[in-house]
Amino acid sequence: MTSLDKAAALKARAAAGSAPVSALTAYDYPTARLADEAGVDVILVGDSLGMVVLGFPDTTHVTMDHMLHHVAAAARGAEKALLLGDLPIHSYPDPETAVINARCLTEAGAEAVKLEGGLRQIEKVQAIVAADIPVIGHLGMLPQRVKEEGGYKKKGKTEAQAAELVEASLALQDAGICALVLESVVPEVAARISHQVSVPTIGIGCGHGHTHGEVAVISDVVGSYPWFVPPFAKPRAQVAASISSAVGEFIRDITPLDS
Ligand code: KIV
Repeated sequence: MTSLDKAAALKARAAAGSAPVSALTAYDYPTARLADEAGVDVILVGDSLGMVVLGFPDTTHVTMDHMLHHVAAAARGAEKALLLGDLPIHSYPDPETAVINARCLTEAGAEAVKLEGGLRQIEKVQAIVAADIPVIGHLGMLPQRVKEEGGYKKKGKTEAQAAELVEASLALQDAGICALVLESVVPEVAARISHQVSVPTIGIGCGHGHTHGEVAVISDVVGSYPWFVPPFAKPRAQVAASISSAVGEFIRDITPLDS
């Protein structure tokens, strides 16, 4: 399947009766391969890698070089899933630069790109889509704007904010996105957007059942980043505890009994 076929198939998942879209982040070959083999629909090489892999305080430190390195690694492990790469902060200041950097991500193995923001990104989305590169939008809480916003805040709490989100969703849809990530949007507003747009919405921190699918950061799912766990995360494994215990056992095993 080509990337355009995969994007079209994803877009069709907004139809009533479709199975929910499952999306997970992966930043390396083994994780992408395991997620792909387990049947996830979308593998996102998210700029969250800045925090959960590279040890930065937020995603504003992530560069195109970081993204290209990790997209290439994850792409080697993904076969069936749509491999989605994040355009990092400062990589889409204008439509021309956005297309150049989106093209670089696809050359590294991404099959679609994601960028954050609404009305101010419309021309960039149109330009990337015109270059035959599928685009996924991202609205609600925008991690790349965490410094301007002064923290991670829930979105859609007021009617003005909700109306702004609906307007941006419809504009992104008309610009040609094939899906829309909604992050930390109040559940009723996530549901309202999901009913109004014709592309699948993929929620994170929006509650369950209010969007056409859900995305999660892999470390939140497997419990591999114990230093920060978002309140909505539901760990299904305790990888950090397993690593600590395996390392402790290794140290004990190679330590002579009389030392
Ligand atoms: O970078 C990322 O992991 C993301 C998800 C939170 C959607 O954008």
